[in-house]
Amino acid sequence: MKVSKKAGHRFGTHRVIAPPGAMPQNAWKLDDTPVPFANEILCDVDALNLDSASFAQIRACCSDDEHKIAEHILATVRERGKQHNAVTGSGGMFVGRVREIGEDLRSGIDLREGDAIASLVSLTLTPLRLDAVAGVQIASGHVSVRGTAILFESASWSKLPADIDPGVALAVLDVAGAPAQIDKLARPDMTVVVIGADGKSGMLACAKARARLGASGKIVGVAPRVGSEPARLLAAEGLVDIFVEADARDTLSLFEKVSAAAPELADLVINCVNVDGTELGSILCAKDSGTVYFFSMNTSFTAAALGAEGFGKEVTMLIGNGYTKDHAAIALQTLRDNPALAAYFNKHYALARPAERLS
Ligand SMILES: NC(=O)c1ccc[n+]([C@@H]2O[C@H](COP(=O)([O-])OP(=O)(O)OC[C@H]3O[C@@H](n4cnc5c(N)ncnc54)[C@H](OP(=O)(O)O)[C@@H]3O)[C@@H](O)[C@H]2O)c1
Repeated sequence: MKVSKKAGHRFGTHRVIAPPGAMPQNAWKLDDTPVPFANEILCDVDALNLDSASFAQIRACCSDDEHKIAEHILATVRERGKQHNAVTGSGGMFVGRVREIGEDLRSGIDLREGDAIASLVSLTLTPLRLDAVAGVQIASGHVSVRGTAILFESASWSKLPADIDPGVALAVLDVAGAPAQIDKLARPDMTVVVIGADGKSGMLACAKARARLGASGKIVGVAPRVGSEPARLLAAEGLVDIFVEADARDTLSLFEKVSAAAPELADLVINCVNVDGTELGSILCAKDSGTVYFFSMNTSFTAAALGAEGFGKEVTMLIGNGYTKDHAAIALQTLRDNPALAAYFNKHYALARPAERLS
């Protein structure tokens, strides 16, 4: 006789080991046992994409040594049952293959055992067990691994598209909330300022803003170097109208440069940087009653709230929700709609070939 497995809580609280009462995201430790409850999905994990804030912090503390980075990640996951960076508080996501679908979920979802899948919920709340880190791609933040992960009933996931390299999909889906939110926030005739325009989320945000604005309005990109490959690509493709070379942490200098490029200031500021200390500059770049969308994980609520108060600016400030309806489809379609952007992502984010892995 077949014995039915128990269902866990749809938000995964049954996997919280410590502290009592925590949810998986704010828990210190999760149960990573690779046996799914009746309403969970067990996946074999092939690669992690650490979010940019977390990966930059780990790179710095491991002096860019790939072996040390691998050890750091293994130690975190062993200790916490998830890849949750204690310094930045952020995670990332994974790609892998479905090994087992709990019996309560089997009939209700369009997913089969063996399907290639990307998680669309943060690694900070995903039970993860790693047997090995096989490779670290410093430039992309991809980490090839062997391990397992559990997706709760409430988790979002996406089948990997057949027409896009899994590493590229991983990079795009990690920041899918950015282009999908811009789709809702940007409107024709707006002035849009994208800070950190030459990163993954920044490039997709510029592309989506251009699609929404058409030939109207103005898109100002801010990046540390206007001569960088992505900055030149954005300008050449008309995805940015004016590029401003600035350090977004230098508040007044950023404000002066952006006001020279767009004296009317921005209806919409999108912050996509991976460093601290850019809240005040972002707020100053917005016009009164404008909107500042803080996608960056390096954003401080305190700095943003008190900064806006100090400037006497009535801006609407939005936290970059990683989830937006249809965000995966919107982000992948943004790439398909922009072949030059797709070629750039293929060049920089395709998964490493075996020869490039850790020996
Ligand atoms: N809200 C969410 O759900 C969510 C999800 C995923 C990631 N994130 C966060 O979003 C942020 C961006 O992620 P990403 O993957 O797009 O990162 P990314 O590809 O590393 O891009 C970051 C960009 O910021 C630029 N930058 C760095 N320092 C700067 C400075 N001082 N002034 C101006 N620009 C600067 C970088 O320029 P250079 O490369 O030229 O230095 C780079 O283009 C990170 O904080 C990440 O953790 C949020």
